Amino acid sequence: MEIINDINQMQKRAEALRNSGKTIAFVPTMGYLHDGHLALMRAGRELGDVLVVSIFVNPAQFGPKEDFGSYPRDLERDSALCRQVGVDIIFHPAAEAIYPRGFQTHIEVENLSRGLCGDFRPGHFRGVATVVAKLFNIIKPHAAVFGEKDCQQLAVIRRMTADLNLDVQIVGYPTVRETDGLAMSSRNTFLSAAERQSALSLSRSLEQAQQMVREGERAPGRIEQAVRETISREPATEIEYVRVCHPESLSELKWVEDSTLLALAVRVGKTRLIDNRIITTKPGRE
Ligand code: PAJ
Repeated sequence: MEIINDINQMQKRAEALRNSGKTIAFVPTMGYLHDGHLALMRAGRELGDVLVVSIFVNPAQFGPKEDFGSYPRDLERDSALCRQVGVDIIFHPAAEAIYPRGFQTHIEVENLSRGLCGDFRPGHFRGVATVVAKLFNIIKPHAAVFGEKDCQQLAVIRRMTADLNLDVQIVGYPTVRETDGLAMSSRNTFLSAAERQSALSLSRSLEQAQQMVREGERAPGRIEQAVRETISREPATEIEYVRVCHPESLSELKWVEDSTLLALAVRVGKTRLIDNRIITTKPGRE
């Protein structure tokens, strides 16, 4: 396994791989890898001859009051995990190389970046779209894998890729959870034991919502309210949003349809967690 820090070197390597007829699969990450990331990498392994993983805590997607400084980092541990799952190249650039002095070009996916997380993290998806477009230009992948856990991010990336005719196949991967249901996240490391207990209400409330729909409930407002009540009962939780919406456009729905997205963001103590689930009206499809 190779670790490449230099943008130019990565581009040359990608170009040479392409010229020799190899296909490149890519998994972008911010590091501090967990089993969710590793599952994306295993899926990536099947999608190309060469697997590239980027590890880059992207300053452009953090707000001034967010956790960029304290975001967990451990390149040594991450490298060992990447080697275990058969990653060929880790791309690990410096922030000053990605955003040199004078940098001023950004990508704005207009409507999909509004609402949900976009309302609470202004500029976040602009930072994500910009860095992912740059990484695509540096790594030149044929396919890239993104987690469905970050459902709005996946929708933004799919839209950007289509709108800008980027020649990359975008592959979504289902959310990987701890055995007790908590969606894996690098930020889970910030949770105290008591907070982690409270955080279980996120996945539990999503299951409760599916149960309500199974029993015939179709009104988004009543489902959102029930989810809010379940989460609010737990100590240290503060809800940012709970929203029933269309899985691709992310627009609000008047009624729950088959394959409806229920997405939520909650602060547990100081840690911001997100989760979501596709709710189905058809039994047996859950
Ligand atoms: P990061 O949070 O490190 O996540 C990297 C990838 O792993 C994303 O596609 C994310 O959706 C996926 N992922 C995270 N937790 C997951 C889980 N429990 N199950 C399945 N997939 C999961 O998302 C980012 O980094 C950044 O925004 C990035 C795309 C790298 C751009 O900076």
